[in-house]
Formats: sequence, C-alpha cells, structure tokens
Amino acid sequence: MAEQPSSGRITKAPENFLSPEMIADVQRGRRDFLRGAFAGALSGAGAVVASGAAAQTPLLGDPNILELPEHTKGLGQPVAATPYGMPSKYEANLQRRESPGLTRVSAASVSFCPLQGLFGIITPSGLHFERHHQGWWDIDPTKHRFMINGLVKNAKVYTMDDLMRLPSVSRMHFIECGANTGMEWGNVAVPTVQYTHGMLSCCEFTGVPLSVLLEDCGFDKLKGKYILAEGADGSSMTRSISIERALDDCFVAYAMNGEMLRPENGYPLRLVAPGIQGVSWVKWLRRLEVGDKPYATKDETVHYIDLMPDGTHRQYTSIQECKSVITTPSGGQTLMDKGFYNVSGLAWSGRGKVKRVDVSFDGGRNWRTAKLDSPVLSKCLTRFSIGFNWDGSPAILQSRAIDETGYVQPQMRQLRQVRGTRSIYHNNAIQSWKLDTNGEVSNVHVG
Ligand code: MTE
Repeated sequence: MAEQPSSGRITKAPENFLSPEMIADVQRGRRDFLRGAFAGALSGAGAVVASGAAAQTPLLGDPNILELPEHTKGLGQPVAATPYGMPSKYEANLQRRESPGLTRVSAASVSFCPLQGLFGIITPSGLHFERHHQGWWDIDPTKHRFMINGLVKNAKVYTMDDLMRLPSVSRMHFIECGANTGMEWGNVAVPTVQYTHGMLSCCEFTGVPLSVLLEDCGFDKLKGKYILAEGADGSSMTRSISIERALDDCFVAYAMNGEMLRPENGYPLRLVAPGIQGVSWVKWLRRLEVGDKPYATKDETVHYIDLMPDGTHRQYTSIQECKSVITTPSGGQTLMDKGFYNVSGLAWSGRGKVKRVDVSFDGGRNWRTAKLDSPVLSKCLTRFSIGFNWDGSPAILQSRAIDETGYVQPQMRQLRQVRGTRSIYHNNAIQSWKLDTNGEVSNVHVG
C-alpha cells in the first residue's frame, strides 16, 4: 500500500459490545470518546507514537500501558482450572441464536451460527448451527446400534466399538440446511448474516466411508440403487440418497473437529453427505437400508421441496448450489471510520471446489476478484477477502462465487425469474449489504 490508510474498525453485530447510545455518540461526531476506548486496538496509532508525533496521539498517557495490570504482576490460574476449555469471558456474546418466533416449539427449531464473528473456515463445535425436528438427545454410545439391511447379503448390526475399529477417513466439509436464506425469498426479512446465512457450518468430520460398510454387508450391486438413512430420534427422519453418491464420498461420522460429535449434532453417529442439503445428514443414525428406488419419505416428498411459480413442486433437489456471502462487514455492523477495511466472507459449492469469488462495492456494476485463502477444498467453505478503502460514500457490497463446474452464483432477480418468490429452500442468490454514509450496514435486496 503506497499510502497507509487508517485501520478500519467494525462494531460487532448484532450483539454489540458498544451500546446503541455509544454508537450514536460516535455518529454525532464524538470520536474522541471512542478513540480513548479503542486506543489499544489501533495498530496504526502505534506507528504514530513511534514516529515522534506523540503529543497529538490519544495514546499519550494511556493507563493501559503505564499502569501495570494485575496479570503482569501476580500468579495466573492453574492448569486444568477448566478441564474442558471455554472461550474468554470477553467473547461471551458470540453465540448461536434462535430467531424469535420462527417456530412454535424450540425443540423443533434452528439455532443460527454467528458467521459474523468467525475466522477461517472451521466452525467451532460449540457454535455449529443446530436444526432439530423433534429435539436433541445425548444417546449412550454403549447402547447405540447401527443396522444395515435391505438389498444386502448379510444384514448387520454394528456397535460403536465395531464401527470405530474400521478404516476411517477425516475430511472437511460444509453442511448447509436447504432452508438457509429461506426467509429472504420474498423480501428482506432478517437483519444480520447470522440469520440470513447461519444455517451453515464447516467442520472436519471423521468416520467410516459408506463404501466400506456397504461392501462389508455385501450390498446388491445390480439392484441396489438407493440407500435410506434413518435417525433414532422421534422425528422419523429418513432420507434417500443415490448409491452413486453414497459410494462416492458419504460416510458415517462419529467425530467432529477432533473430538466425538456433540449431542446436538448427532452423537454418537451421523451421516455426512458432502454437498447435499443438511436434512440428509441424518443425526443419531441408526439404520441404512439398501433399496432399488427412492423411498419417497415425508421429508423428501412433502418437506424440503421447491414450490415453483406454476404451482408445481420440485422434489429431490438435494445439491447445495454454489453460494457466497460477505461476513465482514455485514448487516447490523457499523463502520466507525473511513479508511481501510479487509472485507471478508465465505464461499462454497455442493458440486466441488470454489474457483473464483468476485466482489462488488457498487451493487453489481463493477466487480473485482477476491483473494482465496488456502485451503480451497471440495464441498468445503472457502474464505475470501479483498481490501476496501471506504471514503465515506454509500456503497452496496456483494460477493459472487463461481465453482469449478463454471456455475455462477445468480443475482436475486435471476433466481426469482426461474423459482418465483414462494419457495423456502435452496436460495443461493447473491447477498447485498448496503453501507450508509453513517457507516451502518444493512440487508437490502438489489439486482
Ligand atoms: N437428523 C435427525 N435424526 N433429526 C433431525 O431433526 N435434522 C436435519 C439433519 N439431520 C435432523 C437430522 C436437518 S433439517 C439439518 S439442516 C441437519 O440435520 C442439521 O444438522 P446440525 O443440527 O448438526 O446442524
């Protein structure tokens, strides 16, 4: 960078560590107050001190530097004070959250992942979004049984011990509920990226490939065309998956991010169906049946279907198409100053790797190609970023992902032309964030 712009600061949204009054103060011009509060966090300001302009800098006499804090003088906490580590108390606002009023019963609801507060591509286990149809359970793994039956030579029942002795794989994949961004089909519905896109997470899963298990049971390679996956909860969650996909990269997972699955995410066993909508990732997995046709269960014929403009429904639209979203800055956040911002977000495709992400700051008129952080993996989140020097004028921020098949993420208008506005599922339209002159970022529909 030839000229060093001031470093950008973004308030955390929607659970601001600044109160609305404080933000209003700053917006009325009382930036002196904020400078004091944030001096320590400003890397640019440090450089000013070093260059001898100390008299002008708000850091002069900063008690955070001059007065030795307790933690440099005393004895810290002992090891294993929290045997299972927890985040800092200063990060307590970063939580998965329920959208109030979305469903009548919390046991049959969603908690959304706080994408606006995450870095890289891996979702911490405790922040993985949750979607239960009939509540979650913490099932005793010693009593859990997993059966494979149907068109197989030897129907088998596996204990968790049996499964964990088999050859395993560890792979990073995103999981996205088909209903993600589903509230936005008709109009702007929710304010922040946590609620527009937070039915999305990405973890490293470990488990046994279905190819190993189906081979172990001697599945019928001629007649076996589909498998049915069934959960052990009260929702009778059952989904059909084609045998090609099952054999390609699906696996039964017992671990997530290096530890056993969390109960909310299907402990002790769930199906991982890379690229396929979340509903097929059956949790508390107790049975796979091999059959010769799709099973037409309630969760694939009546639910998780796409209502088209002519009144018909599309069924079995399983793949999560290429999509992206800017997470920083995003709806509900406020840019406190003009200057440099590292705009960053997530891109993914159920059909493979993300090839490119373009970002626009003027509502889609001009596009610049963003940097993709490694690793860029198949059916996995990809982190992208791009520099933005905000001069204080209004802007519309958008990201557009292109995957390795050449598929380009559609504008909202293009998607509505084909799908209408009454769907719930599979909304992968380009997301627009409006940046106002006062720094506020909000959800808008453009293009
Ligand atoms: N499996 C069972 N047994 N019961 C469920 O309610 N919900 C499905 C799927 N698997 C569900 C299930 C849906 S709709 C989604 S989007 C994902 O699990 C959510 O997985 P997560 O809660 O781990 O995020």
